[in-house]
Order: sequence, then structure tokens, then C-alpha cells
Amino acid sequence: RTKIRKVDKNNIEESIIQEAGEILKQGGLVAFPTETVYGLGANALDEEAAKKTYAAKGRPSDNPLIVHIADREDLKKIAVHIPPETEALMQRFWPGPLTMIFEKSVAVPYGTTGGLNTVAVRMPSDPVAMQLIKAAGGFVSAPSANTSGRPSPTTAAHVEEDLNGKIDMILDGGSVDIGLESTILDMTVTPPMILRPGAITADMFEEIIGTVSVDETLLGSESRQPPKAPGMKYRHYAPKARLTIVEGDLREEILAIRQLAYEGYRKGKSVGIIATNETNQFYRYGLVKNIGTRENEKTIAKNLYRILREFDEENVDAIYSESFAMQGIGKAIMNRLEKAAGHLRLSAAAIVKEQKYR
Ligand code: TXA
Ligand code: MG
Repeated sequence: RTKIRKVDKNNIEESIIQEAGEILKQGGLVAFPTETVYGLGANALDEEAAKKTYAAKGRPSDNPLIVHIADREDLKKIAVHIPPETEALMQRFWPGPLTMIFEKSVAVPYGTTGGLNTVAVRMPSDPVAMQLIKAAGGFVSAPSANTSGRPSPTTAAHVEEDLNGKIDMILDGGSVDIGLESTILDMTVTPPMILRPGAITADMFEEIIGTVSVDETLLGSESRQPPKAPGMKYRHYAPKARLTIVEGDLREEILAIRQLAYEGYRKGKSVGIIATNETNQFYRYGLVKNIGTRENEKTIAKNLYRILREFDEENVDAIYSESFAMQGIGKAIMNRLEKAAGHLRLSAAAIVKEQKYR
């Protein structure tokens, strides 16, 4: 049985945190809110706890976990050969949505790192997460708290859908802030390399430490190299229905999706549409969801995974999404959307043209 406990971020009940921390110390599993997505916590220094984590998620065990800490000083206990730029990055972005990769110390078991000699480390800013990590002894491994292959959870209800009965406890701290997983920066290479885009962008790093590089396999579907973060190779974040990203200028995207939704309707299919504040009124057919406003990409990031889950519940046959600007968190949005789509894209212009000549 999974215990579910509500916690108010602004007034955290100490006894609940103690109970959850005790479960983690005993080798159990507790899901908890972070500012990015909900995490599935376990004691990061306990090999057996890592095995349970993989089993609960149904996750391949070569996919390493991120170790969450609550005190910058604790980094030294789990990582070695920490490069000098780390200090400035920690000062600026921790606590926050940044994961950094270092060579691991002997304290970290290979079960946690998926057999790698490196360890991913993050200090989350959510106060519930912070207190839980402290109560658990300082080192909590936490992948996103979803079943492997499903969109990451942004509410405790999403965690419950996927993991109820499989873990010991869920701390319900309400919905998350950001809605997409942390930026991953590999500090073992020079210059440091972004392995997963997130709320902290290349520009923000460059202001602090100069040039960073980007794992080129993230940039398109054409690359034949496997991505450097093992988890990025899986088609996760994925809804059940086939998702297609329609690309072009916005006016063409709307026309193309209108056409696709109409064709779906004629065939008796239920079509989901990912639209925005600015565009949702233009669609007549299909199940239209407003993901947020183009004026503020953060609203889109926050709603993406929830909407993918809703389409699953509503059992749509196909989903079409507009494309989003690549600025700020937009890169991370398009990265997750492309992964959810298994890199399926359609040119809006081509669809519109085809329609014209019919
Ligand atoms: O925002 C987040 O990072 C959330 C919250 C819960 O903190 N966690 C999260 O964990 O997204 P997960 O397990 O779903 O994704 C971790 C990613 C995977 O793609 C994994 O392959 C990569 O981090 N990773 C972990 N350790 C690594 C390492 N040593 N080298 C390269 N990639 C690593
Ligand atoms: Mg994940």
C-alpha cells in the first residue's frame, strides 16, 4: 500500500517529513515534489534501493539516476575531480533546475549510476524536497516518478496513476513550478556540455563560465550517434496516441492542423490538437487543448506533460501539435515534444499546398 500525504510547501509538517525520511533510510521509496517534476526518491548510497527504483518504474537499469543533495558541501562526498567552474555554477543555479555530471567517488554505488564512473548531481529548490533530503541523510537518488515510457509527473495524482501500490509513500506538494526536467550539464568535458536542455539555457551558462557545448544528438533526429545521457535515447515522455509535430509559419501550421483534424473527423477518428491561447479559437474539429501562451513559453512548459496524459485518458487516435519558438525554455519544450513524437514531423506548407491542388 502506498501512503499519500499532503504537505503544504509554506508550512511543512515536520512529522510527515520525518516519517518519509525514515522510509528512505530503511531502503524504501518515496515520491516527492521538486520544482521541475515529481521525483521517485531512494537512498542514493544504497545499491538495493536503486534496484527497487528501477523495478517500480520498469526502467532499464543502464539508465543512471540523479543524486539529489540539500547542501552544496555534500557534493565533495560523492564527486571527485570537481572542476573550478563548478563553484560559480553552484552559487548561481543551486538550488535550482540544474544537474551537473562529475566523476563519482567510491561512496556512490554503480547501481545508482547505471554502471558509469560518473554521477549526476542536483540540488532542488522545492522546500519539501530539501527537507526530505536532509531527513533521509543527505543523498537521495530520484528519477522522474513516472512509469518508464510515460510523460513525467507534474502533480501527485500523476505519480499515483503510475506508481500506486509500487512505492511506499507519495508526498503531495501540489503542482510543480517548471514542468520539464532539469538541464543536464556534463562537467567532465571541456568545455562543459549540455546533455539535456531545460529551464537553464546555454546563454545563462555562458554569462557565468563562457562557452558551453551541446550534445549534437539533441539537435535533430538525423544523428546516428547515441545521445550522451543514456536516458535521452528512449522514446519516453510519450503519449499512447501517435503525436505529430506540424512545422511551418504559424498561419500555415493552423491551416494544416485544421485540415488534418477535418480529415480525421471524416474518417471517424478522434484527433487531439495542441494549440495555444493565441490559436485555439481557429480550430473547429478535434479535441483542442490550450497549452499556454506564446507570450510566455514557461506556461507551455508547465502544461505539456499534463496535456499528454489527458490525451491518453481521452483515448484519442492521433495528436497534432503546433511548433514553439526555440527561445529560453522553448528549446527544452521542442526537445521533449520531439521525443514524445518519436521525431515525427510534418511540413505545414506541404499539407496546405496539397489541399490547394485537390
Ligand atoms: O528535473 C529532474 O532532473 C528530475 C527531478 C526529479 O529531479 N529528475 C529526472 O531524472 O529527470 P530522470 O532519471 O528521469 O532523468 C535523468 C537523466 C537521464 O536521461 C539519465 O540518462 C541522465 O539523467 N543521467 C544520469 N546520470 C548520468 C550520467 N552519469 N551521465 C550521463 N547522463 C546521466
Ligand atoms: Mg525521466
